[in-house]
Amino acid sequence: MKQYTAVNWNTPENDYAGMFWEQNLRQFWIDTEYIPSKDIDSWKGLDPAMQEAYKRALGGLTLLDTLQSHTGMPKIIDHIDSLQNKAVLSFMCMMEAIHAKSYSTIFTTVSSTPEINEIFEWVQHNKRLQYKAATIDRYYRAIDKQNVSNRELFMALSASVLLESFLFYSGFFLPLWLAGQGQMVASADIIKKIIADESIHGVFVGLLAQDIYRKLDDKEGVKRELDELLNQLYENELRYTDEVYTDVGLSAEVKDYVRYNANKAMMNLGFEEIFEIKDINSIVLNGLNVDTTQHDFFSKKSTNYEKSTEIVHLRDEDFKFDLNPGI
Ligand SMILES: [Fe+2]
Ligand SMILES: [Fe+2]
Repeated sequence: MKQYTAVNWNTPENDYAGMFWEQNLRQFWIDTEYIPSKDIDSWKGLDPAMQEAYKRALGGLTLLDTLQSHTGMPKIIDHIDSLQNKAVLSFMCMMEAIHAKSYSTIFTTVSSTPEINEIFEWVQHNKRLQYKAATIDRYYRAIDKQNVSNRELFMALSASVLLESFLFYSGFFLPLWLAGQGQMVASADIIKKIIADESIHGVFVGLLAQDIYRKLDDKEGVKRELDELLNQLYENELRYTDEVYTDVGLSAEVKDYVRYNANKAMMNLGFEEIFEIKDINSIVLNGLNVDTTQHDFFSKKSTNYEKSTEIVHLRDEDFKFDLNPGI
């Protein structure tokens, strides 16, 4: 008979589960604690092409977070041995659902119901977005069975890191670029919370992937498969970027940002960077800068965050993280 084991947090199962558990809790937030309605005037000041690009960017992000919450995290959890690592992934899974919902919180503030429905319709029919979701989902579905090979598990974990650390950024660019100029700032506070979460998700799942990679026999062949996957997704991102950003004249800058974050994804998986990077748009960096709108560095709550939360004191180990993803 199968023996069921209870998770025992008294004894660490590895070097990092406890640290990631705490960091995830520290970053916890919910969408309804933010007030995107402060952006209504800013929204009215955007020209229609910019509004359309913004809605599409958020629509695309919603799809990725939906996939990650409903399929990515749950399928991966099934095949991770450490019960503490499973617990961390469960927390991340719940945050993905909050992320997916939070875009709707922004939509609800700035758009009418018919406009919102139109965007969700666009997401369902946009070939580039559907390709992104289908490509990643294929690797998740490959581990939807009891016994999986290390290669299948590594590729599913890698697909997850590519989603977390790379594919989101064509969408994140616009809210950051606008916030860097003082537009849609309250909504960007939500986006920045999501970015901070995706950052630790990419690092954590990347570590799990590296653990599996060390056990692989055909490391070269698997790395080749990963490079091919990244290239396919990259080609798709270029076209997606053109579709969303050509009308607002930002395609070239977004593509630089996409390449930059593709490198970050590969580094999270323990590999070398693959693209040569020019400077990242300084307005986007300004939009990412937590000091522009946030008064409490540690909790990363912003000036637009109205509910008080437990005060936690800073400790040295709190600074061992890269908490400024995308920079
Ligand atoms: Fe997410
Ligand atoms: Fe995530």
